[in-house]
Amino acid sequence: MLRDMFRLRLAKTSPYPMELEVSRASGSRIYDHLDRPYLDFISGIAVSIVGHRHPRVLEAVRDQLDRYWHTMVYGEHIQAPQVRLASLLAGFLGPSFEQVYLVNSGAEAIEGAMKLVKKVTGRRRLVSFRKAYHGGTHGALSLLGDETYKGPFRPLLPETFLLDYNDPQGLEFLDERVAGVFVESVQAEAGAVPADAVWFRALAQRCKEQGIALVVDEVQTGLGRCGTWFAYQAYGVEPDVVVMAKGLGGGLPIGAFAASAAWMQHLATNPMLGHLTTFGGNPVCAAGASAVLEVIRDENLITKSLQSGEIIRERVAFWSKQAGSALELSGKGLLLALNMGSGAKVQAMMQKCWSSGLLVDWFLFNEGCIRLAPPLNIAEEDLHLAMDLLHKAWKET
Ligand SMILES: Cc1ncc(COP(=O)(O)O)c(C=O)c1O
Repeated sequence: MLRDMFRLRLAKTSPYPMELEVSRASGSRIYDHLDRPYLDFISGIAVSIVGHRHPRVLEAVRDQLDRYWHTMVYGEHIQAPQVRLASLLAGFLGPSFEQVYLVNSGAEAIEGAMKLVKKVTGRRRLVSFRKAYHGGTHGALSLLGDETYKGPFRPLLPETFLLDYNDPQGLEFLDERVAGVFVESVQAEAGAVPADAVWFRALAQRCKEQGIALVVDEVQTGLGRCGTWFAYQAYGVEPDVVVMAKGLGGGLPIGAFAASAAWMQHLATNPMLGHLTTFGGNPVCAAGASAVLEVIRDENLITKSLQSGEIIRERVAFWSKQAGSALELSGKGLLLALNMGSGAKVQAMMQKCWSSGLLVDWFLFNEGCIRLAPPLNIAEEDLHLAMDLLHKAWKET
């Protein structure tokens, strides 16, 4: 009945939705309408970073629900949850990032960052990379690194250009006409491809020399998923703008972009109200987001997630050895891609995993890889259980 109404009444993003009928979720598990548990190795695409309904997040949200939900559009009223969240983020980002602008999603944060770098530099060109995904709105889509998903929606923004990720030759294109370069520290939808350290530093250096804003998209990689608070921090580069969302709210819709106070004031002057959002930084979501950050910090989840990532790597290396075939695992921390070699194998393996109670997924621009991205606080026994199920599916595929 519910399934029929889902099919009838909800607009779809593809002809093949998973159609898991969710009844509840807790920790690393989602339960269906028959109360069958599924180990969540997707985290709602890197969102449920501290698992589902973490008690501290739940408490913070409930407490805020009892106080107030919405009193004014973003930026007018003084709301303690927003101030607390911004202060926590400033601490994790470091002194160059004095201010955050709170929004509702990753795409909206990218849009804000696009406007910011154009306004600050007075330039028009925006550069991104092939196989990058930055969101589904027109601006973010203009930065998308794949024509299949852009073509039907043209005309998009003019003066947007694509370069090859991890290719030093493209850097020459970056000159005084470019306002901003948008880059992921680990290119998520390409199949969790980490930036090459030498290339990333050269990119940052070139941006500095040419007065170009370096914008790092940490929507999928941030908040500890890749082994540091923000994945760029492992590379020793200093971006001008950091964009985040997904895991920030741990399941509540919130996004942000961070920069210096001097840069951010460009959105508030000349003209004033240069960037607006009604719901950005919603106090209930902001209260939840602060609790998410505190859980990651207090439960030492970045270290723990690195250990979990190592367990996955060891298990995969062991299977490879047993089977006498090299299984490739790319990515960082708990954003990992297991290379199956073909889209058909990935689809078959996903079906087997789902039917045995393990949720895994694919990547937009790398159909031959399985996405592994569990919550950072997944219990070790659940991790092993998931890897057992994955191994069984792999052997059968
Ligand atoms: C790297 C990256 N940037 C931006 C976005 C857009 O975020 P949202 O879906 O919240 O608009 C995504 C979403 O998958 C993403 O992976």
